Amino acid sequence: MAAISRLIVVSNRVSPPEHRKSGAAGGLAVAVAAALRQYSGFWFGWSGQTIETFTGELHTRRVNDVEVVTLDLEDADYQEYYNGYANGTLWPLFHYRIDLTAYERSFGEGYERVNRRFAAALAPLVQPGDLIWVHDYHLIPLGRALRELGVTNPIGFFLHIPWPAPQLLTTLPRHRQLVEALFSYDLLGLQTDEWLSAFEAYVLGEAGGSREADGRLRAFGRSVRAQAFPIGLDFGDFQKFARSRTADRAYDRMAAHSAFRAMIIGVERLDYSKGLEERLAGFEKFLEDNPDMVRKVLYLQIAPTSREEVEAYQDLRARIWALAGRINAAWADMDWAPIQYVNRTYSRVELAGVYRAARVGLVTPLRDGMNLVAKEYVAAQDPSDPGVLVLSRFAGAARQMHEALIVNPFSREELADALKRALAMERAERTRRWEALMDGLSRTDVHAWRDDFVAALKAARDGPA
Ligand code: G6P
Repeated sequence: MAAISRLIVVSNRVSPPEHRKSGAAGGLAVAVAAALRQYSGFWFGWSGQTIETFTGELHTRRVNDVEVVTLDLEDADYQEYYNGYANGTLWPLFHYRIDLTAYERSFGEGYERVNRRFAAALAPLVQPGDLIWVHDYHLIPLGRALRELGVTNPIGFFLHIPWPAPQLLTTLPRHRQLVEALFSYDLLGLQTDEWLSAFEAYVLGEAGGSREADGRLRAFGRSVRAQAFPIGLDFGDFQKFARSRTADRAYDRMAAHSAFRAMIIGVERLDYSKGLEERLAGFEKFLEDNPDMVRKVLYLQIAPTSREEVEAYQDLRARIWALAGRINAAWADMDWAPIQYVNRTYSRVELAGVYRAARVGLVTPLRDGMNLVAKEYVAAQDPSDPGVLVLSRFAGAARQMHEALIVNPFSREELADALKRALAMERAERTRRWEALMDGLSRTDVHAWRDDFVAALKAARDGPA
């Protein structure tokens, strides 16, 4: 086999950091960009633009030493593939929300079409020896579409979101085809053992598959290696951001604003998987149960709006507005309101300062593949006086971050109790828990994640080195 020359990363959104140490970009983007520089490959995906009629024309540019190749989608693609199948069907289903899942045939057709379009545009760019790494639920059929065009290179797929239990997945029409498509890859990466077990349960129970002697899963006449690769933080860089001037300014601003009050922070895209309604209810229960704490706390919820053309997101937005408004109206005084609800986006560097100013980090999704905010909150803390992470047991991160206060986000009583406990926790216990969490974060950072995946992809094809 030819030597590995390049790495090709494929994802729906393409977001290389504008600067090498940019704190504005997400940790994943930083890691992918670093890998692309190392392997001199390119990042391929949607331009974020729509045009009336699809042309397949490629846009190539270099961003901070990373080559980026994108294509525009047509309006129907955007509706059926992005708003439709990706975010109206797979996203809710994979987050265990079959009540919100849309099962429309046209969405599935648009999804297949866009994946074929991606494959047709990408295949001519692939050279012998290239490794191809496909990311996330938008692009599950891409590997199969590339194989159909004759691409024989190693192709790996990583799913950033949960894998649903078979009982949920089988509600999806054509669920077999979706799972079968994953068997065109050499390697399938999931965030945690829990999602891996759910995938295996489907393959072994529903698809009549088996496990081969070397651990690979066999079904549909093919086999794939499936493995958990929990994604980490760009730990070193993030700690530097947390000590930067921008972070200090954000910290000072929040410390002045919350003077003499303990701040509780929540940060996420406005998404129903994040458990915002349940969290607000839990916070109100905390106020009810702890009259002595009223006026002594401030809950800052940052939730930038997202996927606003999908109805479930519009409904959620309206409900959260109403709920935060009602709680504030019921509890606020002339000079204090319990909840500060913000729809703006902030850079990760600013957020690092805000996290440090918060006594409690409240990360309580109802279902989440991993959740990096939980990790960022911890990494941003002041070592001499760290805050407490309250973490949902349904976030992938809970399987690693045992020293957080782990809660069931569906129970407002449990949320209220955890808040009380976090706010009352002595410094010695806070420090002990924080040190253990930091130890875990430093050992499993995003660069290790990336290297592990790439090494496993090479090995999946070549056999272990
Ligand atoms: C999640 C998904 C990503 C996605 C991101 C933002 O983290 O796993 O694939 O890019 O949300 O969502 P958006 O729809 O704005 O790309």
